[in-house]
Formats: sequence, structure tokens, C-alpha cells
Amino acid sequence: MDVFNKATTKLGPIGQYAKSIHGYWTFPKLEGEISPRMKFRGKEKLVWSLNNYLGLANHPEVRKADAESAAEYGLALPMGARMMSGQTDQHEQLERELAEFVGKESSYLLNYGYQGMVSIIEAMVDRHDVIVYDSESHACIIDGVRLHFGKRFVYPHNNMESLRKQLERATKITNETGGGILVITEGVFGMSGDLGKLDEIVAMKKDFNFRLLVDDAHGVGIMGPNGRGTHEALGVMDGVDIYFGTFAKAFASIGAFVASTKEVVFYLAYNMRSQIFAKSLPMPLVIGALKRLELMRNHPEFREKLWTVSNALQKGLKERGFNTGNTQSPVTPIFLHGDPTEGANLAFDLRENYNIFCSVVSYPVVPKGVIIIRIIPTAVHTLEDVEYTLHAFTEIKANLDVGKYSSGQFVNIQV
Ligand SMILES: Cc1ncc(COP(=O)(O)O)c(C=O)c1O
Repeated sequence: MDVFNKATTKLGPIGQYAKSIHGYWTFPKLEGEISPRMKFRGKEKLVWSLNNYLGLANHPEVRKADAESAAEYGLALPMGARMMSGQTDQHEQLERELAEFVGKESSYLLNYGYQGMVSIIEAMVDRHDVIVYDSESHACIIDGVRLHFGKRFVYPHNNMESLRKQLERATKITNETGGGILVITEGVFGMSGDLGKLDEIVAMKKDFNFRLLVDDAHGVGIMGPNGRGTHEALGVMDGVDIYFGTFAKAFASIGAFVASTKEVVFYLAYNMRSQIFAKSLPMPLVIGALKRLELMRNHPEFREKLWTVSNALQKGLKERGFNTGNTQSPVTPIFLHGDPTEGANLAFDLRENYNIFCSVVSYPVVPKGVIIIRIIPTAVHTLEDVEYTLHAFTEIKANLDVGKYSSGQFVNIQV
């Protein structure tokens, strides 16, 4: 058997549909400067699918810092991994400022959040330890857990009763092995927008001995009174033992960081394989992140605007009878009933006829009969964008309810 056979016979859970979706639903090209108005296939769309929460991607000061640092240092500097030849004063400065921002002693940069998270988990546990994690954890957490040689227990999403049971099981095991327990969850869950119950989890520390690692990719910069993260929003900044944030969302860049005690961060710097054996973050990304952090700290109005837009959208949807689940963050899911054809036709109608670009998922990504539309508001959207979108959604829901999107009823184009 040739390993290449997979490329033609077994394309994978999403790849199997690639022929009919590639370039339209998957790998679409959004053109123009990052903003709520971008071009798709030559036509302007109202874009609700970018995690540019605070609108920093195109902020003039950000663009200037990015351009000037690229002109001054180039993209190569520093060459090599941090440990070997990739250390600079600017990397250390950014780490100090990030640590302070998220309320930890120390932090360490990661060249990508995904690999970073995998390595944080791998480095923090050995075969004697037990991992307990939320069932809706991001793929990078799942991959990190896969590398673990010891026991792992999963609890249904945000089910605290089950977490307690898993902690009891985990404690029995660690009492025998002499290991510890690492609980992993997210701050803001990126698909559903609900929050990990960090306050309730931290409260369980009085009954169990464990450490808590939180992936706050969608929370850093936007959650809490000062945007310091979901742990700030839920009043448990000290209870989160290891905090993870990425630059891929509110920071509108690339890279990530992990924050914890001085000792743990130092230990991680010497033990995260994906960082030890990979190149350091280029200087423009570090200087660009310093600028973004400065704007985040000094401009609460970006966050306020984000919440104004998010609240108007979520309130408007609820008033019109839409089910937006349990979101407590700007991430806005809309749950509809329908089969995959209806999901595709509805999304197509939104994109082509209402010129709204957002992500829509249906079976097999979510259970049969469910369609989820996910909207990501940002600080650079307007209340007029919200009004227009609410109007469009009211119409597409009415169409869905009368069966307009079922097969044969709706003229779809070949995408
Ligand atoms: C919850 C969560 N964790 C981690 C990541 C990975 O971060 P990065 O894009 O920096 O690799 C993402 C996606 O960006 C995410 O949504």
C-alpha cells in the first residue's frame, strides 16, 4: 500500500467534501484591508467572521509599528530558537508586560499558540500525573492530552458535577502514583461563546489538590473590566495557575504566550519542545505585540465599543426569537434546525443575496438537524451593521421555517 493513497481515497472528515466546497466554504479568499467590509469573489461583503475583536488589525498605530519594526529589523531577526540565539531585550520586555497584564509573575512567548499549548501540556505532566479536561476543548488541548502517558479523564462541557467525580477518580490514582492533577479548560469557548466556569473550578481547590490551566485565546484583551481575561471577568485571577493567550485574535497578529509563576515559566522555557526546537518570534511581531498591548491598556473604548456592538446584536437576535445558546462573550452562535442542504442553502443566501460573510456549520461538524451560524462582532462594526444583519436574519429564518431552503426549493449555484 502506498501512503499516498490517502490523498485520493481517504480525504478526511472535511476533505471528503472538498470538491464541492473548496474556494467557497473552505479556503475562501477575503480580499482588501481587514475590516467589516471586504471583498469576496469581487463583491463587497459585510464580514462577521474575523476574530479582530478590538479592531486592532488595521489601527494606524499598529500598522505603523508593524511597518517600522519590519523596516528596522526585517523578519529574520532574531535567528534561531530562544534558547540558542533568539533572545532579545524586546522579547523579555513583552513577557514582563504580558505577565503584568494578565496578573501573573512571569510569562513566556510562544511562536504559535497551537504548538505552544501542546508543549505546555506535555511539559507539565508525566506518567504519574492525571489530566482532567473539558469535552469541548480546542484541538490544541486535545493534541496536548494525546501526548500524555498517564491517565486522562474528560468531563462533559462545563459539567461541574462530572468534573468533581473525575477529580475524585483522579485523586485516587494520584494517591497511588504520587503524581499531581492538571485541570484544563478554556476561558471563552470559541464556538459557543460561553465561559469556562473558572470560579467554580477554582472553588473546588478546597476539596482537591490540582493545578488549573486555562486557554483564554478568545478572552485575553476583551474579557473582564480591564480586558485582562476571563479570569479577571470571573474574579479568579490568582486561582488560575497557568494562563494561556494567543495573539491570533484580539491582538490581531501571530504568536502567543503562557503566564504563571516565575519557576513554572522558567521550567516551561527549558521544557516546551515546540519552542526549544523552533525559531524565536521575529522582532516585528514582538514590537507589534507591545504596541497592541499598549493600545489595549490605554483605550478601554475599543472594548466598550466591542461590547456595545455585541450586546446590540445578541439582544436583537433574542428579541427576534433566535436561540443564541449560553454565550457570555462577543462570540455569537445562532442555533437553527435544519439538514445540511438547508444549512448550505441558507448560508449561500446570506453570502450571495444579503452579502453577509459569516461561518455556518451543520452535520457532520455538529449533530444532525442542527445548523450553527457563528457571528464575531468587533469594535469596528457599527450599529447599522447590526441592524442590517438582524433584518437579514429575520428574513432567512422565515425562509427556513417555510422550507424555502430544502432541496429543490432553492436555486444554489455551483460553488
Ligand atoms: C481556543 C484556542 N486555543 C488555541 C488556539 C491556537 O492559537 P494560534 O492561532 O495562536 O495557534 C486557537 C485558535 O487560534 C483557539 O481558538
